[in-house]
Amino acid sequence: MNVMNLAQMLEFQQKGDERGHLVIVEGTKDIPFDIKRIFYIYGSDANVVRGQHANMISEFVLINVAGTSKIRVKDGKGNEAVYNLNRPHTGVYLPKMIWKDMYDFSEDSVLLCLASTHYDASEYIRDYDEFVRIVQEQ
Ligand code: TYD
Repeated sequence: MNVMNLAQMLEFQQKGDERGHLVIVEGTKDIPFDIKRIFYIYGSDANVVRGQHANMISEFVLINVAGTSKIRVKDGKGNEAVYNLNRPHTGVYLPKMIWKDMYDFSEDSVLLCLASTHYDASEYIRDYDEFVRIVQEQ
């Protein structure tokens, strides 16, 4: 299976009325995993590239709840795709074993990350050549 087919944009339910907007993201319902961890990234400017890793176990959903950013994903087999995160009710689902770079952060960007696991530094692959090697061995 081509892992690039599994990274995908998600659109979440939006309840808007005269008081404002409310977006709903329920684990295992609106996204394909139970949420074990959230973290968020802000204060990164347009020159910064974050991520630059793959995860052996974790799956993520990334949502720009404010501002905008981009994410480039690579499957280690020569396929890549870029997702624009620019609306608070859309996100991108990232399966395990996919290389990701987050970049082009707007000044007001707040990038919310939902994860399927608790943090474990040992499941991170931070060297791209090593990532490609592991993908090819699979
Ligand atoms: P890092 O993985 O470099 O962030 P990014 O995904 O944006 O590239 O993480 C930055 C630091 O925060 C690093 O020291 C690891 C730590 N960290 C945690 O302790 N827990 C977490 O859940 C995450 C995502 C990072």
